[in-house]
Amino acid sequence: MRYCRLGKTELEVSVVGVGTWQYGGEWGKTFRQDEVNAILARAYDLGINLIDTAECYGDHLSEELIGRAIEGTRDQWILATKFGHKFHRPFERDTLYDPQQVLEQLQGSLRALRTDYIDLYQFHSGNDEQLATPGLWAMLAEQVKKGTVRHLGLSIGNNDNLAQVEKSPELNVQAIQVVYNRLNKKSEPRVLPACMELDLGVLARVPLASGYLSGRYTTESVFAETDIRGRGQEEWRLDALRQAQVIKQTEVPAGVPMAEWALAWCLKHPAVTCVIPGCKSVEQVESNAAAADLDVLRDDIPGVGAGKLDPSV
Ligand SMILES: NC(=O)c1ccc[n+]([C@@H]2O[C@H](COP(=O)([O-])OP(=O)(O)OC[C@H]3O[C@@H](n4cnc5c(N)ncnc54)[C@H](OP(=O)(O)O)[C@@H]3O)[C@@H](O)[C@H]2O)c1
Repeated sequence: MRYCRLGKTELEVSVVGVGTWQYGGEWGKTFRQDEVNAILARAYDLGINLIDTAECYGDHLSEELIGRAIEGTRDQWILATKFGHKFHRPFERDTLYDPQQVLEQLQGSLRALRTDYIDLYQFHSGNDEQLATPGLWAMLAEQVKKGTVRHLGLSIGNNDNLAQVEKSPELNVQAIQVVYNRLNKKSEPRVLPACMELDLGVLARVPLASGYLSGRYTTESVFAETDIRGRGQEEWRLDALRQAQVIKQTEVPAGVPMAEWALAWCLKHPAVTCVIPGCKSVEQVESNAAAADLDVLRDDIPGVGAGKLDPSV
């Protein structure tokens, strides 16, 4: 594993983290505690120290599963969670940015995660008006002072939201979370350069394009209705899978698993501190961790650098 400083913070995060939206139950699978325990134990063995979760992956459900799994080893992890929503079954969310509501969400997250501090507390993809909610950032500054939150982050919803990124210094925000993957480069022209300029850490989310860059799916693949990928956006999904098929044939070197290649592709961008692939099994966490070495060893991954990859390297 490799580690990178997250923006101006003192946090040294593994370049591959664990994304945990899946544990909230919206990805066609209900997770048992022993399954999450096994994934996170293996992640830890592999040197992964960063977990990204949120208040609304289930109603604090993902956080609860994580909290129980890492109880006793909490100080060895960097926990990133988020605020701004309340989850309702089956798959609905209320949006809540009022400072008192966010404070209650924070208390809920601390309880669920069985901890008394959050390492990175992220604004969860709200719009510019929600970012400007009166009293929100003063309340959060107070939490940083008290130590319940170590650092603040913005998970930007629109991947080209330069205005929110540029506001970061005045909000004492030190990390940006943004969609970045081989199929979605919207953050490349403006957001990623601004993050470098402002020395903001970057968590690249959805790095596998929701799994479509894993190499496992084709346009014929069928997703269950209990899987977020099986509910709507069919046109977009088919287009993504068509593109992924071409990329698999033209860019992914023979012998390299596509998921690892896709993560390494993200890590090649100098602004990207880490990727946070959503992870459903021990096998996936092992494959995802391997991407960190792929990046180091293979300097000429097609699509980013020049030249052809020699699979024997
Ligand atoms: N607004 C926000 O702040 C926001 C929004 C979205 C996501 N996030 C965060 O970012 C994380 C990552 O995004 P995501 O989970 O939506 O998408 P993603 O990481 O692009 O894709 C995750 C899916 O890829 C597949 N996968 C993972 N590792 C694999 C491997 N090694 N080999 C093959 N397939 C693999 C799994 O699906 P299958 O096994 O079912 O194929 C998994 O469910 C989330 O978990 C969450 O923590 C934040």
